[in-house]
Amino acid sequence: MAIFFQLTSREQILIITIDGLAGSGKSSVASAVAQRLGFIHLNSGLIYRTFAYFTLLSEHDLLDEDSVLASSINRKFDFTLKPSDLSTEFSVTGLEDVSFLHKRDIAQGASIVGTLPKVRAVSTDIQRSVANNNSVVLEGRDAGTVVFPNAEFKFYLSASVSERAIRRLREIYSDIEGTDKFNKLLSELVLELEERDNRDISREVSPHIIPEGSFEIVTDNFTFQEVVEAVISKVTPSLGNKV
Ligand code: DC
Repeated sequence: MAIFFQLTSREQILIITIDGLAGSGKSSVASAVAQRLGFIHLNSGLIYRTFAYFTLLSEHDLLDEDSVLASSINRKFDFTLKPSDLSTEFSVTGLEDVSFLHKRDIAQGASIVGTLPKVRAVSTDIQRSVANNNSVVLEGRDAGTVVFPNAEFKFYLSASVSERAIRRLREIYSDIEGTDKFNKLLSELVLELEERDNRDISREVSPHIIPEGSFEIVTDNFTFQEVVEAVISKVTPSLGNKV
């Protein structure tokens, strides 16, 4: 059931950040929390994925900063709340099907373009402009450090790399868990996640770190619903005073 808080004036806009590495569960948690509160789910990974997608489509180098930006110039990034179920829809000019963004090569590409300072600056501007008029649950790698260091609520989700890989694989291959094929895919995914983690943690601009003042949830031993409830229960007492 949604707890829909009608927030209208600027002072009433609330920002919740959820940071975490790939596969930490932050997207699903951010989506569920946003839907419960009636806030926009601002998935910043989609912005980096869009940059990577259009750069690859135009066959440019993912490390050529000006080409990466040029490939997405004049595109409008929209995060809109669907009144029917309070879920958030992401759309961007020229992208027919958002599911293209969830491919593995696009994820790796996003991690590469995410190392570029000008790309990060443009992405940060997009994120701040969405939160200018809307309460948001912003998820990312630098949401509570760079984009909104003064957010009202900051969360950090962590989980071991093997747990994160297993969760990802179960989403697609739950029927073959325990087989050689599953184990082979698992080893490959662990390596891929480690590669992405290393890049996200060691990049010069806005490296991924645990935001100061954030509430950390180690999710290995919690169910998805328990993590959602932990976030909601932290946030709702203060929400009551804001509306
Ligand atoms: O959250 P995600 O898995 O969709 O992100 C894909 C990649 O995009 C991630 O590996 C690094 C980059 N990214 C980033 O650099 N900063 C963010 N705030 C979000 C994503």
